Amino acid sequence: MKRWPGLIKSYRDWLPVSESTPVITLKEGGTPLIPVASISKRIGGNTKVYVKYDGLNPTGSFKDRGMTMAISKAKEEGCKAVICASTGNTSASAAAYAKRGGMRAFVLIPDGYVAQGKLAQALVYGAEILAIKGNFDHALDIVREISDSYPVTLVNSVNPYRLQGQKTAAFEIIDDLGEAPDWLCIPMGNAGNISAYWMGFKEYFNAGKCKNKPQMMGFQASGSAPLVYNKTIIDPETIATAIRIGNPVNKEKAIKAKNESNGAFLDVTDKEIIEAYKLLGKEEGIFCEPASAASIAGLLKRKDEVPTNSTIVCVLTGNGLKDPECAIENNDAYFHKGVEANIKKVASIMGF
Ligand code: F0G
Repeated sequence: MKRWPGLIKSYRDWLPVSESTPVITLKEGGTPLIPVASISKRIGGNTKVYVKYDGLNPTGSFKDRGMTMAISKAKEEGCKAVICASTGNTSASAAAYAKRGGMRAFVLIPDGYVAQGKLAQALVYGAEILAIKGNFDHALDIVREISDSYPVTLVNSVNPYRLQGQKTAAFEIIDDLGEAPDWLCIPMGNAGNISAYWMGFKEYFNAGKCKNKPQMMGFQASGSAPLVYNKTIIDPETIATAIRIGNPVNKEKAIKAKNESNGAFLDVTDKEIIEAYKLLGKEEGIFCEPASAASIAGLLKRKDEVPTNSTIVCVLTGNGLKDPECAIENNDAYFHKGVEANIKKVASIMGF
């Protein structure tokens, strides 16, 4: 079996890299496209639903796709330190790749609103963490100014190399399916990922690698849905802290992706997100983080509009292990505590 060499090596001809670019990689990308029968069944007809499980990247989220590019290019340019604002996943990924490339990693996070797994990663990767009294949007304003004034490279999705790396997920989907899906369902926060996917689909289409392009279906949490309501949300709120963002920096690109693809934006409530999150776990054995489940929640909410016999891909952007608090508080498990270490007792609880 040939080993996956990471996405820069796999898609070198499609990326702005040269022989002199040092490739900082953890072998990211190459994630599985998994059929989810229980979701297909709920949609009905001959619809086939798959999830692109990007939570299986090296730091557990799709951010690694963008970060291998951003950090490799930063290294090529002689950069010694990087900075980002983050709801958690970007900070974990930036720290991992920066450290691998021998750089400092400064991360600004909203104090108290980052899931434990993500914080644990940033700590262990040796990031220099500043938890600010404000939300992601405030943190992003600060890091943009800092990177303009000081010798640190910004690795949020305003860095164009991030989207270049992330577009490879669209290539992988077409390479796997042999064609583009009819719908691409994706959660939106800062709206970089939907923009990157759209770029990838268009590039493959223009090169004749597929005959169609998908409709881009972007989903946000109701309490934090600036793209759906077309206005900045001053105090965004949602259980899906990864997408707790009120003023997405890539909004123009995302709107273009929606319009060009004849797609749509829709919000889903926290309740709908958690239902989808539990469903994927219980019926498919797939554990994603709440923000990722928004793509499934959105698809189920729009099920009456799904074209017949269609192929749909929902992007699962992050691994469920990122947010253990959410898992422990939101599940339908039978959890018997303090059970006596006794065969009869155990068997009786099992219903035998
Ligand atoms: N899903 C997860 C798990 C995320 O972490 C994010 C963004 C998104 C979806 C939305 O992607 O911003 O490209 O629209 N997380 C960023 C972070 C904001 O700081 O980790 P987007």
